[in-house]
Amino acid sequence: MKLTTGAPGARIAGLGDYRPHRVVTNDELAQVVDTSDEWIRSRVGIRQRHFAGEGESLVDMAVAASGKALAASGLGPEDIDLLIMATCSAPTSIPGVGPTVADRLGLRGPGAYDLNAACAGFCYALSAASDAIRTGSARRVLVIGAERLTDWVDPLDRGTCIIFADGAGAAVVVGTDEPAIGPVVWGSDGSKREAIIVRDRATMMEMDGQGVFRWATTRLAPVARECCERAGVTLADIDVFVPHQANLRIVDSMVRALGLQHAAIGRDIVESGNTSSASIPLALTRMLERGEAKSGDLTLVLGFGAGLTYAGQVLRCP
Ligand SMILES: CC(C)(COP(=O)(O)OP(=O)(O)OC[C@H]1O[C@@H](n2cnc3c(N)ncnc32)[C@H](O)[C@@H]1OP(=O)(O)O)[C@@H](O)C(=O)NCCC(=O)NCCS
Repeated sequence: MKLTTGAPGARIAGLGDYRPHRVVTNDELAQVVDTSDEWIRSRVGIRQRHFAGEGESLVDMAVAASGKALAASGLGPEDIDLLIMATCSAPTSIPGVGPTVADRLGLRGPGAYDLNAACAGFCYALSAASDAIRTGSARRVLVIGAERLTDWVDPLDRGTCIIFADGAGAAVVVGTDEPAIGPVVWGSDGSKREAIIVRDRATMMEMDGQGVFRWATTRLAPVARECCERAGVTLADIDVFVPHQANLRIVDSMVRALGLQHAAIGRDIVESGNTSSASIPLALTRMLERGEAKSGDLTLVLGFGAGLTYAGQVLRCP
């Protein structure tokens, strides 16, 4: 049997994002559930979020973000031979969303599949893309993180409706001689599956907020350190840190634990809420647009969430 080999490394060639039109403030939520702008800002750090509406299905948002990522990469639909759609909020599971997104984008029959690692999904997918390129299974991969979480969250549950939101981010990943996506550090703890769960098709998301908060603030800093070690860099080398945008207090706690005083920090949670697998590409795209991050910056990304799952790696900004 012969095996294929691919490029020595992989890099992100372009990023794209999509935020739904409707901006929902804390005051608007406070008209529906017993909460307040002050409570939400102080406990989770969110000022506003985007909720998808008409013409903003999961597929619509994924296609929009992907179109921008393709444009930014300078590649066309004909160049992509694999699409990985990270999502945990697909409206149905048969068929997967990936092939439909590929078709809408006019890709020429690429490998296409959905990947559900919840809020860690984008980092899982990035690793799968990088590995596919390095083994020669694919040459150019479209990685998407997209969620329409409002379909799965009870608008009357104040424990979750203030946190979760909708959006999509995408990255075009290509081969390169100089590796720009480092080794993944990933893991899971299925014994904590009840922490964030949708039990069946008739019910909405349930979350043990305190349990998730404790886990994230105690277990993930060592994972971030290991990502750096495996990539052969130190935390002091990190220019940009983009953890999953779960909660501003979790982001800030990680920054303190890692001593990342000099890095630019992704805090898109304030404006976009928690968009699960979309949160990292959304945050990074915005930081690049605003000049808070720049091309070539050494960036640490770390996704974590339901499962429980986590995954992180060091990469260079496109
Ligand atoms: C969800 C979260 C904000 C709740 O904050 P908390 O400080 O743990 O709050 P608690 O659940 O202990 O509740 C404290 C009080 O606030 C109330 N409360 C809960 N949600 C509220 C809201 N939206 N507005 C006002 N009050 C609220 C509770 O009912 C409780 O009231 P009581 O003391 O009268 O019973 C917090 O646990 C959290 O952010 N966890 C992490 C969640 C996360 O990141 N999830 C995504 C992972 S991918």
